[in-house]
Amino acid sequence: MEFITAVGRPEAVKTDAIIVGVHAGGELTPSAKALDRACSGAINAAVKSGDMTGKRGAFLPLLGLKGVAAPRVLLTGLGSKDDFNERAFSDAVRSSLKAFNGAAKNVAVAALDWQVKGRDAEWQACNVAIAARETAFRTDELKSKREPVTQGAETVAVLSKTRSAPSERGLRYGAAISNGMELAKRLGNLPPNICTPSFLADEARRMAKKWKLDVEVLETKQMEALKMGSFLSVARGSEQPPRLIVLKYKGAAKGAPIVLVGKGITFDSGGISIKPGAAMDEMKFDMCGAASVLGTLRALAELKLKINVVGVVAACENMPSGAAVKPGDIVTSMSGQTIEILNTDAEGRLILCDALTYSERFKPSAVINIATLTGACVVALGGVNSGLFSNDDALANQLMAASRQSGDLAWRMPLDEDYQEQLKSNFADMANIGTPGAGAVIAACFLARFTKAYPWAHLDIAGTAWKGGAAKGATGRPVPLLTQFLIDRASR
Ligand code: BES
Ligand code: MN
Ligand code: ZN
Repeated sequence: MEFITAVGRPEAVKTDAIIVGVHAGGELTPSAKALDRACSGAINAAVKSGDMTGKRGAFLPLLGLKGVAAPRVLLTGLGSKDDFNERAFSDAVRSSLKAFNGAAKNVAVAALDWQVKGRDAEWQACNVAIAARETAFRTDELKSKREPVTQGAETVAVLSKTRSAPSERGLRYGAAISNGMELAKRLGNLPPNICTPSFLADEARRMAKKWKLDVEVLETKQMEALKMGSFLSVARGSEQPPRLIVLKYKGAAKGAPIVLVGKGITFDSGGISIKPGAAMDEMKFDMCGAASVLGTLRALAELKLKINVVGVVAACENMPSGAAVKPGDIVTSMSGQTIEILNTDAEGRLILCDALTYSERFKPSAVINIATLTGACVVALGGVNSGLFSNDDALANQLMAASRQSGDLAWRMPLDEDYQEQLKSNFADMANIGTPGAGAVIAACFLARFTKAYPWAHLDIAGTAWKGGAAKGATGRPVPLLTQFLIDRASR
């Protein structure tokens, strides 16, 4: 799918179809008005007839309008002008593109007309691209009978009266973010017998080749040499060997890098503290943090941002076996701090703490880890907001700004010293789980003990990285948030 800006009057645009908006009460947007004038009132007539109410989600195709170059015009209902928000904007793009069912290959959307309070042409164009790409995403890679590839438009044009740099920039951002999200979704959706730690390492090598990134993959021996006793304790219950994947993007001659650290548990059975069977398949999504790191690097490389970024992916399986780590075991992390493992299902923090200590060697300006870390975060924030924890207010504020700009929501959570007591162990420096209460905060507090050397933020994406039920599948979040954050950092 390609994105362009189509410059000119709506009635003159040469395309298979043009989408124009109508607000509730039949109020035409400027492009709808222009078309109506060109075809001597056929659009107003459709509104008067009651066939187009302008309600959200309503649409009406009109064919062969005289005086209009495009053979198809789709009127799409935008709802009331006052309530027209970000979500309504993306819904309108998605539902109207789907309405063509693949019949129109080249589609122009007059979406710069669709005013969302506080949003500009760059935002509109970016979100047209993202919403359009969502309509073409497929999950039938592994089905034996696949639908033909007719869905989705080939070219989506944003209609603009004049050449518009913000619109062009927005489309470029939106396409790159979509590419990153699609990679993250695809990796997330892959079954755990295919998407193993070594598979993720191969994927990183493929990316490095294609995008000219530096890649290094550490195996068990090298992790042993680095004394990553905590990470390795999780990996040792599995037949699949662990991988620590390091991908480097160098977009600037100087400047300390931002390090993105992803939790890449390719399957989380819980280990000896085994999980109940219901929905256990969804624990294949426990590598979505890792997938979002790869997806963000993909977007960043495409945008050629002038910034340095290191992606670190800690990948292994969490499985029970005779060799598996047991409740009561005490392990020594790379930092030297000892950990009493009271529950082997709290494994994310055990692999991340060593990856976070390892990240010190990059002398980073900031480290952000992304992890499907706690069920407690799902209880606290559901599928709407990712949990944001940080030891640095400036970094947290930048991430919150990127979250608002991208619509990929996050909510700041506390990290007060007082919570640390809950991690006390009689036998080691800390336990890997706390006393009951504030589970998402306690997990973050555990990580905070390993991140004192740099400004750090942790995104708990347990509720936002994938959807269960009938819509089961990875969401590609928080690639939009992270990419926007890097766009902002690169331009300051
Ligand atoms: N990967 C899970 C977190 C998770 C659970 C994400 C459910 C999404 C849905 C993580 O490794 C885990 O098992 N966490 C435990 C921690 C507990 C043992 C302190 C949890 O949340 O139950
Ligand atoms: Mn677990
Ligand atoms: Zn897990």
